[in-house]
Amino acid sequence: MAEVEVRNIRKKFAGGARHVLEDISFKVNDGELVCLLGPSGCGKTTLLRVIAGLETADEGRVLIGGADVTEVTPKDRDIAFVFQSYALYPHLLVRENIAMGLKLRGVPEAECAARVAEAARMLDLGELLERRPAALSGGQRQRVALARSLVRRPKATLLDEPLSNLDAVLRERTRGELRLLFKKAKGTALYVTHDQVEAMTLSDRVVVLDKGRIQQVGTPDDIYHRPANTFVATFLGAPAMSLFKLDEKTTGGIRGEDVELSLTAKEGYEPAKVVLVEPTGPQAVLGLESSFGNLRACWPGSFPRGREQVFIRLPPERLHRFDASSGERLAG
Ligand SMILES: Nc1ncnc2c1ncn2[C@@H]1O[C@H](COP(=O)(O)OP(=O)(O)OP(=O)(O)O)[C@@H](O)[C@H]1O
Ligand SMILES: [Mg+2]
Repeated sequence: MAEVEVRNIRKKFAGGARHVLEDISFKVNDGELVCLLGPSGCGKTTLLRVIAGLETADEGRVLIGGADVTEVTPKDRDIAFVFQSYALYPHLLVRENIAMGLKLRGVPEAECAARVAEAARMLDLGELLERRPAALSGGQRQRVALARSLVRRPKATLLDEPLSNLDAVLRERTRGELRLLFKKAKGTALYVTHDQVEAMTLSDRVVVLDKGRIQQVGTPDDIYHRPANTFVATFLGAPAMSLFKLDEKTTGGIRGEDVELSLTAKEGYEPAKVVLVEPTGPQAVLGLESSFGNLRACWPGSFPRGREQVFIRLPPERLHRFDASSGERLAG
């Protein structure tokens, strides 16, 4: 396993109006799992393809294990890539699909079989090993593609939304197992997702990308509790952080779980109109109209039916402050 680093990557597609990647620099340490998180079209796949050598950057360097591989062909970079649209060999059994990369590298038969069995167990593919891809569901195919790259034990693994075709239950389970798998194998991984929950639960660190630019690099705690700007603040969290004008120069932000709520009037609380109630089970997400503007707030358990008013308090120590013109976080 090895660290993966990109330095000052810039990329513009021929005919494109703007750079798809704009001065991207960060490092995935040896054995670390980093998520690349950002909305559709922000450049995630393009960046992975540049790291894998499938796409050439206009500027910048790619380093693997400290060696500059910018000019090295994809196959000589020893990186596994789990694609967003994965392709399996239709004429081969699942078992053979998973073992393919190992066979090509001359891994002995017994070792091959052991690694395939381990990956199959972790990804719950045991009963599917003797089938062909045509007889699998989309989610099952995705797990086979994942298994195929995991058994190779490359220097690093790049994964492009590898769980997007799984149902919610399987997705949550596979997510947990993937983390264990990478930790156990001490595997270096860069994992692309636009799902913030996936990024928060899987990562050692998260790189948040928007419009081809890095917005923040940090631990899941950092980006959630100390978002670097209003983009990161509102991209992470369900419900999203509410933003409002604090004064001419400052945008305020508060997370739904930080809004203090009461059904009765209280010292230091002010009235707010309930315009929306979204039950989620453990809590109800309220849409409120208040003197701060529109806010989202979390009510533990179920919210009393028919209630149209609550009283709110925004604890000053829970407020986030951003520069109103640049959107950058202000100290504190
Ligand atoms: N071959 C190409 N030629 C021209 N433009 C491209 C090409 N590939 C991607 N783009 C553009 O580059 C931008 C980034 O695309 P990319 O596929 O990297 O986004 P993404 O973050 O992976 O999005 P998604 O989450 O939807 O997969 C998009 O605006 C896309 O339209
Ligand atoms: Mg993509």
